Amino acid sequence: MPLHLGVAWYPEHWPESRWAQDLQLMREAGISVVRLGEFAWSSLEPEEGVFTLDWLERAITLAAQHGIACVLGTPTAAPPAWLTQRYPEVLAVNADGRPATHGTRCHYDVTSERYIQFCRRIVEQLARRFGQDHRVIGWQIDNEFNTVSYSENARRAFQRWLRQHYGSLEALNEAWTTAYWSQQYTDWSQIPLPLTGAHGFNQPHNPGLRLKWRQFITDAYRRFLHAQVEVIRAHARAEQWITHNFMGFFDGFDHYVLSELLDFASWDQYFPEGPLCFERDCAAHDLTRGFKRRNFWLMETQPGSINWSDINQVQSKGETFAAAWTAIAHGADAVCYWQWRNALNGQEQYHGSLIAPDGTPRPVYVEIKRLGEAFERIGSLLDGTTVHAEVALLHSYEDRWAIDFQRHHVRFDPLAYLRAFYAPLIRRNLAVDILSTRAALRGYKLVIASPHIVDDAIAQSLQEFVAEGGHLVLGVRTGVKTRDNALWQQRPPALLHDLAGVHVEEYFALREPVQIAPEKDAPPWLQGPASIWAEWLVPHPGTKVMARYEPSNGWLDAQAAITVKQHPSGGAVWVLGAWLDDPLQDKLLGWIAEQAGVQPPLPVPLATAHVVRRGKAYIVIAGAAPATFELPWLAREHLSNRVVRSIALPPWGVAVLTQEEPA
Ligand code: GAL
Repeated sequence: MPLHLGVAWYPEHWPESRWAQDLQLMREAGISVVRLGEFAWSSLEPEEGVFTLDWLERAITLAAQHGIACVLGTPTAAPPAWLTQRYPEVLAVNADGRPATHGTRCHYDVTSERYIQFCRRIVEQLARRFGQDHRVIGWQIDNEFNTVSYSENARRAFQRWLRQHYGSLEALNEAWTTAYWSQQYTDWSQIPLPLTGAHGFNQPHNPGLRLKWRQFITDAYRRFLHAQVEVIRAHARAEQWITHNFMGFFDGFDHYVLSELLDFASWDQYFPEGPLCFERDCAAHDLTRGFKRRNFWLMETQPGSINWSDINQVQSKGETFAAAWTAIAHGADAVCYWQWRNALNGQEQYHGSLIAPDGTPRPVYVEIKRLGEAFERIGSLLDGTTVHAEVALLHSYEDRWAIDFQRHHVRFDPLAYLRAFYAPLIRRNLAVDILSTRAALRGYKLVIASPHIVDDAIAQSLQEFVAEGGHLVLGVRTGVKTRDNALWQQRPPALLHDLAGVHVEEYFALREPVQIAPEKDAPPWLQGPASIWAEWLVPHPGTKVMARYEPSNGWLDAQAAITVKQHPSGGAVWVLGAWLDDPLQDKLLGWIAEQAGVQPPLPVPLATAHVVRRGKAYIVIAGAAPATFELPWLAREHLSNRVVRSIALPPWGVAVLTQEEPA
């Protein structure tokens, strides 16, 4: 697939007489694809059963005449007013029991069968009309799934789902230990929704119920997605792909489950927290690439500024270009901007766009045009390529939910903990695949995991990885829970005792940091504070203690904090029993990666530039500071088409290199 430069286009916001001028400017910027149709339901079905698709066909035709392909968004994130008025049961209900009002979006109840029927009908109209159309290259289902509905309908659906899942109330009662606080259920209809915090009631619900609720929500979105995918596949030519635009690390449902139905995953990247920062902003690329273990589309990103952060700063000159190449470097096959032109009214008047309401380019247009030129000229370098990572960082929605329900330390954010492992790797430009805890691990040199929930399949996969010589790092809170979110009877890490060569005697949420010091034969730098969480590790025979706790609360004093167990295969398992402060975590992860033989693509001094290898190309991106370094070989720099021996980039500068064959 060639690299695409795209934009979200809403022709229905503007008189048709303006479309050609818009498309001409898109073409001049090198835009090769527009996404359209999403949120346009009231323009496509203005009255129940009355379909008006001709305008969409005219927009597609005009785009094609300008050499621009189309991605159709199904409009189901924004039901029309006639629908929500006539069938109010399709509206989502919030945790306080109030139904959504019309006039926003994503306000439908994903469990509503009636809503699903209406969605299937409009999608079928679109698929029948455009499924064979060669000008339409693919489909995006809905937009950024996110809403949870606590309706009566959802409650009944949840109860049915539980019945199917557990088979009997005895099984459910046992799995959730419902004798606790007199929760035993004698009828499926008694099972409540987890409305923690609603109506002023602040007692949390049963952890088993809460985890199953999240799995149910996942399944509800899977059904919703499946209903549309099925209709499209019935009418579409095989080349039309289907995707959905996820929201990075959003954890409302299990993205691995939904991704099974897609041809590839997409995501929408915005920068509400400030300028592009590799440590923070690359992780979601690696996560999205991991959903299907293949390249993804950046379906939306920010043209300069957004309108929903505290301070909606415009990106610096060059930063938009650098952010796009960062996405490409991490496996994006398309970069699409949201949006082309602001609607005159509507909630997003202040948002960045490529052209202004007067129809002329805004400053960022010029930068995006530069991107279009680059994609056209050198995009083929990246055709059919992806990132090759030697490190896998394992991630699980169930683990995140289970820990979030019971953080035990207010600052134990499971995502922050994952990022604490990601940052040292990305700082060294070590490519990382962020993968499901259930992914196949063959081929990696280093796997980092802290599976809070373990079952036989997870344990076996990690055991096999190490038995084949792999290096494994296990973090805190590993092997605590079952898939019912019940405690394992064994001490953590339960099913992983033999693999880890330790068990956890006690765990400690920390008010004060605890110091860690190296054992005599361990590297002397293995010292520093750990905060938030520490575990007293008991090493089993044959496990080496690398570091111990210095005196703190008495219990932890002199106990093992970091251990390693060498396995006969040559593999090793490190257990990091505490949440190490960043300087120590950084050094330790860097050292372990070296032990595991993981290499960066180029020997660049730390913090100089972000470098990723994709196929034969080395993509080098400077951050907010200039980047200067020597190359180990003569290279062709493709953006400037020059042969170079060193790199000297200005802030947000980008270089795309291949090794130049000696003459
Ligand atoms: C996204 C959404 C777009 C647009 C954008 C603005 O979350 O999918 O439709 O609203 O935000 O930044």
